[in-house]
Amino acid sequence: MKRDFLRLWDFSATEIEEIIKRAIQMKESGPSGECPLIGKSVGLLFEKPSTRTRISFEVGIYQLGAQPVYMTPQEIQIGRGETIPDTARVLSRYLDAVVIRTFSHELLEEFSEYASIPVINGLSDTHHPCQALADLMTIQEKKGRLKGIRLAYVGDGNNVANSLIEAAGRMGLILTVACPEGYEPAPEIVEEVRQAGGDIVILSDPREACGGADVIYTDVWVSMGEEEFGEKKRERFRPYQVNSALLGCAGEGVVVMHCLPAHRGEEITDEVMDGKESVVFDQAENRLHSQKALLEFLLAR
Ligand code: CP
Ligand code: NVA
Repeated sequence: MKRDFLRLWDFSATEIEEIIKRAIQMKESGPSGECPLIGKSVGLLFEKPSTRTRISFEVGIYQLGAQPVYMTPQEIQIGRGETIPDTARVLSRYLDAVVIRTFSHELLEEFSEYASIPVINGLSDTHHPCQALADLMTIQEKKGRLKGIRLAYVGDGNNVANSLIEAAGRMGLILTVACPEGYEPAPEIVEEVRQAGGDIVILSDPREACGGADVIYTDVWVSMGEEEFGEKKRERFRPYQVNSALLGCAGEGVVVMHCLPAHRGEEITDEVMDGKESVVFDQAENRLHSQKALLEFLLAR
């Protein structure tokens, strides 16, 4: 039976722990020449730009002994109207797994329904589970544990926020989201995670959210596909900038995370991005290790 990774919520706490443990081992050993995916091919179907997701998957797939096959909808027949079910059925005959970056999460679900291979969400408008996996790995490395860690997410209630909510709920972090009214994370995700016992607070004051935080996390105010709302959002989100004053509200030893790319001077200042609390580049590196462990989990067990 194939497994997908469309939402972080698709995996149990035990499975996530196992993947993070393996990712840390893989990071320590480096590209060791072990090739658990030799002879396999993994597709990367990307409808939006990407630096980290694309490159970390391409390199990781190669390091595992497999071959990455990158494609955009315009380069394959989807761009000329071939249906998602037909594309999913055909690609399943060639590939061993596929990573898809797209707008609509429903497209991923439809693709998965017709694919006989694992489908990995490389970002949709509502979820970014590969990012959340690397984020958990980074928090584990920096703080030595996940359970009970106080995580403050400041900014837009977007795909990254939704996946962090699922990550926090699964792994027992205490998450406070601070966002302007009208820009909250998906209510059905918050509800589902709370129902399962997740400690998730949504409020509007960033200073309150950061009080006593172990980790402060932010993301861009204007996500891919939202460019037309840019001006309005930039104005509305100005009080949500992660800067030195906001960091001052947090606990001793706080670390600052950002999934990147950052819009320096908007959601985060240069001073904080480049400051001693920032772990953003370790976090970006961990995309490689955590996705290698994810691919091994899905394809080589
Ligand atoms: N964080 C992240 O997914 O970055 P990219 O858009 O560069 O892939
Ligand atoms: N929320 C951002 C994340 C980019 C990695 C976006 O969707 O554009």
